[in-house]
Amino acid sequence: MTQDELKTLVGQAALQYVTPGSIVGVGTGSTVDKFIDALAASGVQIAGAVSSSVRSTERMQALGIKILEAAEVDSLKVYIDGADEIDEAGHMVKGGGAALTREKIVADLAERFVCIADESKLVKVLGAFPLPVEVIPMAAAQIARRFAALGAAATLRAGCVTDNGCHILDVRGLQITDPQAFERDVNQWPGVVTVGVFARNKAAVCLLGTSSGVKTLDFSRA
Ligand code: 5RP
Repeated sequence: MTQDELKTLVGQAALQYVTPGSIVGVGTGSTVDKFIDALAASGVQIAGAVSSSVRSTERMQALGIKILEAAEVDSLKVYIDGADEIDEAGHMVKGGGAALTREKIVADLAERFVCIADESKLVKVLGAFPLPVEVIPMAAAQIARRFAALGAAATLRAGCVTDNGCHILDVRGLQITDPQAFERDVNQWPGVVTVGVFARNKAAVCLLGTSSGVKTLDFSRA
């Protein structure tokens, strides 16, 4: 199966976590696009979706899915999103689509984070995928120097302005062996809006698309 077919498979599989009549938190990316398409095609009626990006909002609105603002909901049963990397405990690197800040905000509203990913995303240690960090533009150079001091190289993502009007640094050369500590520490640096490590609020479940079908990885006890 191609990577695109695996994404379709897990997008479809995520429908099992959608309760009719509920409000669903929806992430961003090509895998989530498959979920949005599957949701629209399924005919399952939901009360609406809280979206993590302009991209996902536009796709859902075009398919007739009602969008609610995060401020309109107290909590969500489920948040469904992709990942750039996920480890065997459910920690993730996200932000390849530059939507990491809103993704963390919507995920924080949810009781359960369901990650949908093809098998290429499963890793032993996070860091091979360049780590996205959303930054206030005037802080970008100093934050890059801080990463250089850790032995990593941060480059500004060319032409990228996030939905929040900020910039993205992509950081290469990291091996993130303690994702929770890393997330906590980097989030303290002045000018960091969001670091793309999702460890303190990690995935509860991952639906992993493999050539032998969808594997469910349950991290609730990890
Ligand atoms: C967007 C994200 C995406 O979930 C991540 O980049 C994975 O994307 P894709 O499903 O296209 O591989 O974090 O900010």
